[in-house]
Amino acid sequence: MAKARYSRFPSRKSNSSTMIFTMLLMFTFVILILLALGILSIPSNSGGSGKAHDLSNIVHNQADSSAEDQGKSEPWAEVISWEPRAFVYHNFLSKEECEYLISLAKPHMVKSTVVDSETGKSKDSRVRTSSGTFLARGRDKVVREIEKRIADFTFIPVEHGEGLQILHYEVGQKYEPHFDYFMDDYNTKNGGQRIATILMYLSDVEEGGETVFPSAKGNYSAIPWWNELSECGKKGLSVKPKMGDALLFWSMKPDASLDPSSLHG
Ligand SMILES: *[C@@H]1O[C@H](CO)[C@@H](O)[C@H](O)[C@H]1NC(C)=O
Repeated sequence: MAKARYSRFPSRKSNSSTMIFTMLLMFTFVILILLALGILSIPSNSGGSGKAHDLSNIVHNQADSSAEDQGKSEPWAEVISWEPRAFVYHNFLSKEECEYLISLAKPHMVKSTVVDSETGKSKDSRVRTSSGTFLARGRDKVVREIEKRIADFTFIPVEHGEGLQILHYEVGQKYEPHFDYFMDDYNTKNGGQRIATILMYLSDVEEGGETVFPSAKGNYSAIPWWNELSECGKKGLSVKPKMGDALLFWSMKPDASLDPSSLHG
């Protein structure tokens, strides 16, 4: 018995294969465009397994300054280090958001404190000489939008975050290298261990003001901006402050152990 199958519709085999071919071409075209724009980047070195965490293996893209001159700053992310795990999200906040946060905090700035590891209470300390204030979580629309953006970037829900803290450093003020994770029972019971921190720079500075990771693994003098760093900044892997940029670093490793290379000042 022979059975012939007929479709109610005329065969479109040749048509559909032409279409698939066209689509493949278009997709290739899109990828090429993305490559040209630097949106997708092919790592220039595949890296031997032993050098996976070497800072010199990290590709640092140059900022597109022509776009910034036109007042249009596109956000882009950059890996800074793998030990600690640290990333810079360029143009994370707009200029307006930075100025708004400063205006909210300015009337309420007080001398910063540190957490007492025995009692869990706040205390004055010579290792932290800045002034600052806290903004209640979700206090207004702008703050909520920023908190949502942080949640999207970090994959950590907003409810897991502490309120934003606005800090101000005068010339000569500092926060000596420290860990953001807790080493006492009091604070770990009260909300659990801190996983990660995001620092957002609200103003530009002429010099200094870097965030420095003195225990970062790798040759930190190999970074492209090494010569622009202050003396303090050269004591480790440093990130230069730039208005609107955000620095995310993890105090805990993916296996939930504490990461001592997250030491920062
Ligand atoms: C670190 O990097 C700098 C700049 O690339 C280089 O001059 C220096 O030799 C490197 N040091 C080591 C120990 O590899």
